Amino acid sequence: MYTRVKQCIGRGTIKKLYARSCSTDPSHVEPKPFEDIPGPRSLPVIGTLYKYLPFIGEYSFVKLHMNGLSKLKRYGHLVREEIVPGESVVWVFRPEDIAKIFKAEAGLHPKRRSHLALLKYRTDRSNIYNNGGLISTNGTEWWRLRREFQKVLSKPQNVIDYLEDTDLVVQEFVRLCSHEKADDFLSLFSRLFLELTCLVVFDIKMQSLSEKERHQNSRSSRLINAAFTTNSAILKLDNGPMLWRFFETPLYKKMRRAQNYMEEVALEMVTQKNQDTSICGKQSLLEQYLKNETLDIKDIVGMACDMLLAGVDTTTYTTAFALYHLAKNTDAQEKLRSEATALLKDRTSPITPETLKNATFTKAVLKETFRMNPISVGIGRILQTDVVLSGYRVPRGTVVVTQNQVICRLPEYFDKPNSFIPERWLRDSNNIMDQTTREKSVNPYMVLPFGHGPRSCIARRFAEQNLQVLLLRICRNLQFTWCGEPLGSLSFLINVPDGPIKINFKNLHV
Ligand code: HEM
Repeated sequence: MYTRVKQCIGRGTIKKLYARSCSTDPSHVEPKPFEDIPGPRSLPVIGTLYKYLPFIGEYSFVKLHMNGLSKLKRYGHLVREEIVPGESVVWVFRPEDIAKIFKAEAGLHPKRRSHLALLKYRTDRSNIYNNGGLISTNGTEWWRLRREFQKVLSKPQNVIDYLEDTDLVVQEFVRLCSHEKADDFLSLFSRLFLELTCLVVFDIKMQSLSEKERHQNSRSSRLINAAFTTNSAILKLDNGPMLWRFFETPLYKKMRRAQNYMEEVALEMVTQKNQDTSICGKQSLLEQYLKNETLDIKDIVGMACDMLLAGVDTTTYTTAFALYHLAKNTDAQEKLRSEATALLKDRTSPITPETLKNATFTKAVLKETFRMNPISVGIGRILQTDVVLSGYRVPRGTVVVTQNQVICRLPEYFDKPNSFIPERWLRDSNNIMDQTTREKSVNPYMVLPFGHGPRSCIARRFAEQNLQVLLLRICRNLQFTWCGEPLGSLSFLINVPDGPIKINFKNLHV
């Protein structure tokens, strides 16, 4: 019937009829044009890059959350910017708009515009990789990888199977902290998370916490440096004129060398496992990938590199911020300790799935840490359909970046937004807490530390399990105070603490 009508009156007539019906509908408001979205003035050739110049520019590429706050104050909840002329980026501050972005990608393969130089590096090396890997590939090729890897990586039982080994590594780490006097604990945290990542990725114990591996030229140290070098180069390589597309710039070269090393280790580990025919006990994740006929060695090497790249710094910095807040807020530290002592009768009682299920305050501490210090300013997407945000039409193909880090510190959404109050995330009204600090209802698109939807963090369960075990063990066995300056963050793609992690740990003999 509809086809017949369509044939009779033609497309143009339908459009006119639709437009007329809209204009007579009093509730219909035509979206405002994309070009009218307010934002900083972009100049020919240099775009808004002049605003990011050191010393004289009002913005900085390493202070994305501060830029976000000042753009919100000046231009409002939706801001359009052409950092490079002709390439719009839209910064999105309203949780209702953030929800629309994620809802619009339902049923599609969500796309990100990031890690472009890494994509080039890997596509140039087709003898080692099939594509840019999970992080930098978009479209159906991304989904081919994601579908197969997440079957294994996100399966709850697979994550639980690593709990015992994780706990043993964390116990060793806590023993080290108890007598370590470091000017900056960050590198020790990185060693812990490299160890835990390699356990899952390569099924090996790197011994990253050992005396030998703590040497600056050891394999662990070089892997940690390679991940940091790559992560901190990506944002700069992704923005600006991207000259590395035409010739090897010094920063691209730095990233290439870091990736060369990471790939060398990944290749060695994966090949070794592939040749190892011994069958023992339960299958590791790597063994499950190697048995999967829809994946080949190149896919697995790419995935191993992605995991090293995304697994170490993220959890390291989250730990730094969580311990900073707990050290500064002794009430919260004591509450976590009470929970840990109730769940773990003595210092070496094993952490079980049941322990984690009941660790509600520990989980609230992590959520509050993510509210105040998320690992990224927000989530980036390339829109795949036209969307109306804050009354403006934003066309398909536009890069949008949600500003969760900025809005999570606004008083319109959170009481005392700059205070660390884990209790705001506890639902149980019997809990000892001040009713005024319990959030009434928080929009679910406000705190999104792991992203959202099918493209969200593939290792979320592992990361959360590792962090929960760590907080429980540290608070069960150690007491700690902060000896450094107030801690803020710098945006190096992911948010890095802007000062040393100075903590004084004291053993608790209970
Ligand atoms: C505190 C810890 C972590 C945080 C906060 C975090 C956060 C994120 C975020 C925000 C994304 C992008 C999500 C999106 O675009 O919607 C992501 C993606 C990813 N994460 Fe994590 N992550 C963490 C730990 C890890 C760990 C431990 C690993 C691996 C061992 C990992 C591997 C990945 C990978 C491979 C992706 C790309 C997924 C894809 O594009 O399909 N992450 N993570």
